[in-house]
Amino acid sequence: MSYTLTVVVPCYNERANVAPMVAALNNALTGIDWEVVFVDDDSPDGTSTAVRALAREDVRVRCIRRVGRRGLSSAVIEGALSSSADYVAVIDGDMQHDETRLPLMLQAVQIGADMAVGSRHVEGGDSAGLSSPLRVKLSETGIRVAQALTHTSINDPMSGFFLLRRDLFEQLAGRLTGQGFKILLDLILASPRRLTIAEIPYKFRPRQAGESKLDVLVLAQFAGLLMDKALRGTVPLRFISFALVGAFGVLVNILVLQAARSLGIGFGTAQTIGTVVAMIANFELNNQLTYRAQKLKGPRAWRGLVLFLAVCSLGAYANIGIAKALYAENGHGLLAGAAGAAVGVVWNYAVSATLVWRVR
Ligand code: GDD
Ligand code: MN
Repeated sequence: MSYTLTVVVPCYNERANVAPMVAALNNALTGIDWEVVFVDDDSPDGTSTAVRALAREDVRVRCIRRVGRRGLSSAVIEGALSSSADYVAVIDGDMQHDETRLPLMLQAVQIGADMAVGSRHVEGGDSAGLSSPLRVKLSETGIRVAQALTHTSINDPMSGFFLLRRDLFEQLAGRLTGQGFKILLDLILASPRRLTIAEIPYKFRPRQAGESKLDVLVLAQFAGLLMDKALRGTVPLRFISFALVGAFGVLVNILVLQAARSLGIGFGTAQTIGTVVAMIANFELNNQLTYRAQKLKGPRAWRGLVLFLAVCSLGAYANIGIAKALYAENGHGLLAGAAGAAVGVVWNYAVSATLVWRVR
């Protein structure tokens, strides 16, 4: 006997919301055979302990505790793939989504929609819970872009509140990028055919406990997701991010070089200072952005920085060596320089991914 519905709840530092969530689901889902799976990324506040305590009392409550990883989308994917139910729903773990809409969403999919999406932007919906005018504006712009890209008229493509058949999720799972916040958008873009989507209005509630994890870096990841789709997945997202950070590093290098020279420091020393400053800036940016999901902290960050400097120094050495050799061969300075830089960035990317950030 399997469940009709698995409710997947991604959570990070939501301990105070766990028990209210289970109680709310229990109220909302009477008459439906349901289970809930909390996917927690080893929250320091002990979210998974709170889930386990409930799980020992109620077999419908499950916990997936992921260690050494972060990310809303990937948490949702793993939770959904742990289900054997007929349907899978995804809802935030902070009580901002309205769980009382779930039966209606289930019904919409049972009578034929591919997916039901909780929408703040259709009649009867409301996004009063969005904290600032800036968030509202960003949210609206994101929606425009997403609509254009998906060729759908779905009104709330950024929603994190939706329900679909489990087998459909499984079909799409292999094509998801799994990056960032926008799992719904990721699913819609992954589908080779256009999905029929039922939009169910709901009121986005203000947060009661804990705090939001959405920030500017998450928006950068969103831009990355769109870029990945535009490139049709031919170039890994991480590489694009790494290369952009690298380009920014060149800028830092030049600026620091100029500044140091204007202070009367000789070219060799000034360039060395510029290079080291650029590498440190690149490490920090990559740690925050490119490898956000496995961000190094504390002593591991220092160790990572030293390794990163070593890796990039070797990369620079190879870069210069190749550029020199090519220049000697054909005398084309620009081409030789570009080829050297390309080899350098690929080396830095590949080696630092495995040695510094240990991407699994
Ligand atoms: N496992 C896991 N790992 N869960 C996470 C992570 C993570 O790295 N980051 C966030 N979460 C969980 C939070 O604990 C919460 O339950 C849910 O994901 C949403 O995170 P919030 O930080 O509360 O996001 P929000 O309220 O700002 O964003 C809402 O609006 C977005 C659109 O504007 C959410 O509904 C998003 O799903 C939605 O995309
Ligand atoms: Mn929230």
